[in-house]
Amino acid sequence: MIYLDNAATSWPKPTEVLKAMTDVLERAGGNPGRSGHRLSIAAARIIYDTREEIAQFFGVSDPLRVIFTSNATHAINLALKGILKPGDHVVTSSMEHNSVMRPLRNLEKQGIRLSIIPNDPDSSLDAKNVTKIVTSNTRLVVMTHASNVVGTILPIAEIASITHKTGALLLVDAAQTAGAIPIDMQSMGIDLLAFTGHKELQGPPGIGGLVIADGVDASRIEPLIHGGTGSRSESEEQPDDLPDKYESGTANTAGIAGLGAGLRWIKVRGIGEIRGHMKKLSQTLMDGLSNLPKVKIYGTLDPERSVAIISFTVAGKRVSDIGLRLDEEYGILSRVGLHCAPAAHRTIGSFPEGTIRLAPGVFTTLDDVQEAIAAINKVVQA
Ligand SMILES: Cc1ncc(COP(=O)(O)O)c(C=O)c1O
Repeated sequence: MIYLDNAATSWPKPTEVLKAMTDVLERAGGNPGRSGHRLSIAAARIIYDTREEIAQFFGVSDPLRVIFTSNATHAINLALKGILKPGDHVVTSSMEHNSVMRPLRNLEKQGIRLSIIPNDPDSSLDAKNVTKIVTSNTRLVVMTHASNVVGTILPIAEIASITHKTGALLLVDAAQTAGAIPIDMQSMGIDLLAFTGHKELQGPPGIGGLVIADGVDASRIEPLIHGGTGSRSESEEQPDDLPDKYESGTANTAGIAGLGAGLRWIKVRGIGEIRGHMKKLSQTLMDGLSNLPKVKIYGTLDPERSVAIISFTVAGKRVSDIGLRLDEEYGILSRVGLHCAPAAHRTIGSFPEGTIRLAPGVFTTLDDVQEAIAAINKVVQA
């Protein structure tokens, strides 16, 4: 079996991640931040350590500004619904995942004005187009860091400086980039970063987060949910302290421990080395697929400007048939269709059928991708 669906969720996970998760349940099974006994303190310690590692990884000095959520979708909803009020203007790109588009469409119904900047058909976005759209009434710009359909990386630092000229905040959906390419929130000018643990950060499903940059006033962000935090138990009002303001309910200790182990695994291997490996895999896939008859590849076709996600179609064949044959006859696991991003497929011209998406991961080898190309060749010819 060759797993090429790492953009949906990375697999396999490093053994260190599995070990950290079972270990925490065996050793530190108390409810973190609730009771004062040793098992509760041990769990809280693991959570705090992971908070520190995440803050350091994304270039934020205060670990309390790392808010754990259950995934990127939850983090994006927290930022969008916590900040935007009726009458506000919000700007986004046309390559967004439904994790961004659906909450925005929902907010539109509540009187928030939405502008969608069209990306080019090759999926890239000229930051100058953001200048034309933002106004003094723009409260938030929200952009994917890299498309989950074609991998294209958007020019976040440039978009940040344009955004800040109007006094708006920049929220970045880093679901496809966290762990895949270096992210320094401070130098890139990112105010809010939504990440997920279960993709390139090598963690388990069920954990993600929103990182609020140093200097961003958290009083501008309302909590999405209210409830018990273990702190200020005498009060029936939600506390204002970070991260408790946004973290009601018992934390996912095992998920956070797994995420921490994933981060440490990335640090040991080196994000530069990981990126180099992924670029080689992308280039090999792009070259191999470009040589096949009837195959059309979407996106910028430049591994320097994208993460390792390759989308293609085959003239005269249904993407679902190809995906099924690759799985059943060759053991190659891809993802076909619209990838929860209909706007992105409209932009690149593959709506409504979608594409076949190949997303290698850190454990994918050059032999694996060569084998996948050979299998696709047979399926295309047949
Ligand atoms: C670009 C992008 N944003 C958001 C998400 C949602 O991530 P999660 O499933 O962790 O909520 C995904 C997941 O596929 C994604 O690719």
